[in-house]
Amino acid sequence: MQELLSKLVKKNIVITKEGKVADYIPELDKAKKDALGICILDNDGNIYTAGDWETKFTIQSISKIVTLMLAILDNGEEYVFSKVGMEPSGDPFNSIRKLETSSRKKPYNPMINAGAIAVASMIKGKDAREKFNRVLDFFKKVTEDDSLDVNYKIYCGESETGNKNRAMGYFLKNDGIIEGNVEDALEVYFKQCSIEVNAYTLAKLGLFLANNGRTSSGEQIITQKIATIVKTLMVTCGMYDLSGEIAVRVGIPCKSGVGGGIVGVVPGKLGIGVYGPSLDKKGNSIGGIHILEDLSKELKLSIF
Ligand code: DON
Repeated sequence: MQELLSKLVKKNIVITKEGKVADYIPELDKAKKDALGICILDNDGNIYTAGDWETKFTIQSISKIVTLMLAILDNGEEYVFSKVGMEPSGDPFNSIRKLETSSRKKPYNPMINAGAIAVASMIKGKDAREKFNRVLDFFKKVTEDDSLDVNYKIYCGESETGNKNRAMGYFLKNDGIIEGNVEDALEVYFKQCSIEVNAYTLAKLGLFLANNGRTSSGEQIITQKIATIVKTLMVTCGMYDLSGEIAVRVGIPCKSGVGGGIVGVVPGKLGIGVYGPSLDKKGNSIGGIHILEDLSKELKLSIF
């Protein structure tokens, strides 16, 4: 496995030239365009790594699966999905279009920005600070990593420039999807996106979901039902308007982030974390997708 990963990283670095590092959030553009790394964890305690697997980056949209788990724990499945749908939107992650044109009157799914901001508003806590601290503590428990923290430079940059997300927040308030304070929801959302991780952290998150919500130390943190919901939405919506193609090409639950991360889940077997900040036009790591596609073919990982 180790040799295979080194070979795949070497092979796919060249494709990073075809992508672009995100620059709409200040500081994100400082990432090394040709950085590429992978970490895989299995249930025998093995860790396989290659390339830039230790490089720190912000989790961005991958955090949406963490807050979704916590929101369902806090409020129950029925309430959460009364406020956000379970359907792929077919639009880019930051599209606001369907908030106005759709008769659904709620975001299509919790993986697009509008859905994730709605989910952030459902996290319990007396104020934004307590809400976010609960998100961070939950993520620390899931990954068994107490060192996780926010990159405050990126958080401040995104909070200052996140005007379209702010517009979505107030749109959701107007439609009764967000019931509390919009600025609190946005603060939680911008902070959750700015949590710093590396490919190992993502592999831990992936293995947690592969084991249906149980940590490596055997603690059951979420129900199997919640884990199933999250994995299913990763397959149908996790890569936005590329989700269908990724389901065909890779065939495992995946969730991407504009920081360049992708988390992959091989149910019952593996957690995969990939890092490659050079993104395709849909905001997914271009090198990461190619590595996952090669790995899936080589190891016959597809769940279909
Ligand atoms: O809200 C945003 O636009 C970013 N904080 C997160 C977007 C993202 O990661 C999309 N995923 N590929």
